[in-house]
Amino acid sequence: MSETLLTQDAEGVRTLTFHRPQKKNAFTHAMYEATTEALLAAGMDPAVRVVLLTGAGGTFTAGNDIGDFLERPPAGEDSAVFRFLRTLVNYEKPVVAAVDGAAVGIGTTMLLHCDYVVASERARFVMPFINLGVCPEGASSLLLPRNAGMTLASELLMFGDPFDAATAQRAGFVSRVVPDAQLLEVATERAKTLAAKPAEALKVTKRLLREPLRAEVNATLRREGAEFIKRLNSDEAREAFLAFMNRKSK
Ligand code: COA
Repeated sequence: MSETLLTQDAEGVRTLTFHRPQKKNAFTHAMYEATTEALLAAGMDPAVRVVLLTGAGGTFTAGNDIGDFLERPPAGEDSAVFRFLRTLVNYEKPVVAAVDGAAVGIGTTMLLHCDYVVASERARFVMPFINLGVCPEGASSLLLPRNAGMTLASELLMFGDPFDAATAQRAGFVSRVVPDAQLLEVATERAKTLAAKPAEALKVTKRLLREPLRAEVNATLRREGAEFIKRLNSDEAREAFLAFMNRKSK
């Protein structure tokens, strides 16, 4: 479908692999668009029961591409990143994630909208928004306090430090932590198990689980998005992004 997003089908499971390993699978506009289109296509394909998200080369994703943020900052609700988030938040079919290595920014917050998340022992999560001069996204400001409790949510979002898979499990968005070498095997087995369940009952179950909070999650996405766009234009954010871009030339 796209060289930065690989697609593979097996036994009712469509695996979407973020594939930009030389940049730690950092998301460009084109990758958000490709992933959104792939999710929509999988949603409409009756042969696909479950979507499995993973990353190539021992990294889930380094989050939004920082160069892309500087060159083409999202300007409104129709921006590629927000379309991707809305598609995932409102997705009908179950989504499983297999997380290895770094899951940065949206790489962590997208997991709040997955139904089953398997992480390797070496997986490292971080929501570095504060350190980049921006603010929480992906409805993390709503879902993290609910899942993790206000104390842990505040720590993760206000300090912006990396944390391990055990902490992510404690924060309520990782279902299972497995030895590194078993990650794909376990995640695939879990996805196939879900794919073998009665498909309509599974969709109804997901809808019943997610529906009570859906309006609030969508409203939070809009609220966070508006703040995020404002923050991207701030001196704080520009300085932090330029510092990242220039870090190797120092
Ligand atoms: N945007 C753009 N480029 C990125 C990137 C991002 N989010 N994350 C990594 N890259 C690039 C690096 O600049 C580097 O490119 P280069 O080889 O051309 O110099 C390459 O990917 C490899 O990254 P590197 O930092 O050398 O790998 P690492 O294993 O030491 O660290 C990370 C991996 C993910 C921990 C680190 O790259 C990082 O913190 N990235 C920034 C993540 C971030 O802040 N994302 C935004 C969230 S809103």
